[in-house]
Amino acid sequence: MWLFNSSIGRKVVMSVTGLSLVLFLLFHASMNITLLFSQEAYNMICEFLGANWYALVGTLGLAFLAVVHIVYAFMLTIQNYRARGNDRYAQEARQEGVDWNSKNMLALGIIILGGLCVHLFNFWFRMQFAEIIGHATGSFDPTDGAAYVRYTFSKWYYVAIYVVWLGAIWFHLTHGIWSGMHTLGASGNTWLPRIKVISNIFATLIVLMFLSVVICYACGLEPKLKDSCPQQTECCMKDKQDCCKAEKAECCKAHDEACKQACEQCCKGNCEECCKGNCAECCKAQKPECCKEGAECCKPDAECCKAEK
Ligand code: HEM
Repeated sequence: MWLFNSSIGRKVVMSVTGLSLVLFLLFHASMNITLLFSQEAYNMICEFLGANWYALVGTLGLAFLAVVHIVYAFMLTIQNYRARGNDRYAQEARQEGVDWNSKNMLALGIIILGGLCVHLFNFWFRMQFAEIIGHATGSFDPTDGAAYVRYTFSKWYYVAIYVVWLGAIWFHLTHGIWSGMHTLGASGNTWLPRIKVISNIFATLIVLMFLSVVICYACGLEPKLKDSCPQQTECCMKDKQDCCKAEKAECCKAHDEACKQACEQCCKGNCEECCKGNCAECCKAQKPECCKEGAECCKPDAECCKAEK
């Protein structure tokens, strides 16, 4: 009850949940560093942490910590707001010496929450959730985390969103870590300044670990895939890199679909012939005139693509 009713109890809950979430971030960032050395090794970790019972227990525990931390953040903010009452403007003025980010913890928390929703949609929904429900929710295999990372950071707007998000996380952590430790008892003129320095170093380290992956993949500096499945190149002409292993079927299906659509226009219905082997070349231009243009490949009549190659 003390944890719900008293102000110090609520702060203890905020600190314990917040510091536990920091430990998760450290684990998550360490796992992600693998992406800088080997995409295959990262996927092995993703497979290991898929929808197994221990990963699901971890996810539920994490969700519980996050929800409690967020609910208590709102409760504490409302409590502080009420306690200040009419005097709150005077209070603001007296607090001028307080760090910028300690006064903005709730605002930073809301930005972080928004970023987290985008992040969970990009990754968790397409990976662990897809495994739980048993069918794909994204374009790649649910255990192919590296493919989702490559895809996400190939888009400039996601790179921008993640940089802003990680900036907000850095501000939130530099204040949150020392403040949480202070609430749990670390204090004194000697230790408090030290704890603040340790918090800054820790927050910077975690954020740099995440950021290095974003920058590396955005700049195309990721480690190359060992098996690039050259035998599938005729099937998946666009995304050769992603045309591996379990993605093959998906990738070929997408290609066949695209080819059929192109054939509908350019080869007047002779889709099956047109999609075979080199005749796909005929459809590349994806316009009705392609049969005439590619005269050697496709004779200029309705039967143009049929077995000509
Ligand atoms: C470059 C940055 C990041 C990358 C590449 C990344 C990648 C991923 C991937 C691939 C997953 C899915 C794992 C799976 O379901 O098997 C995931 C899940 C998750 N990420 Fe991140 N992440 C990044 C940053 C962050 C940050 C900064 C946070 C927190 C503020 C975060 C919180 C989470 C959470 C809560 C999950 C769900 C975990 C679970 O299912 O148990 N991630 N992330």
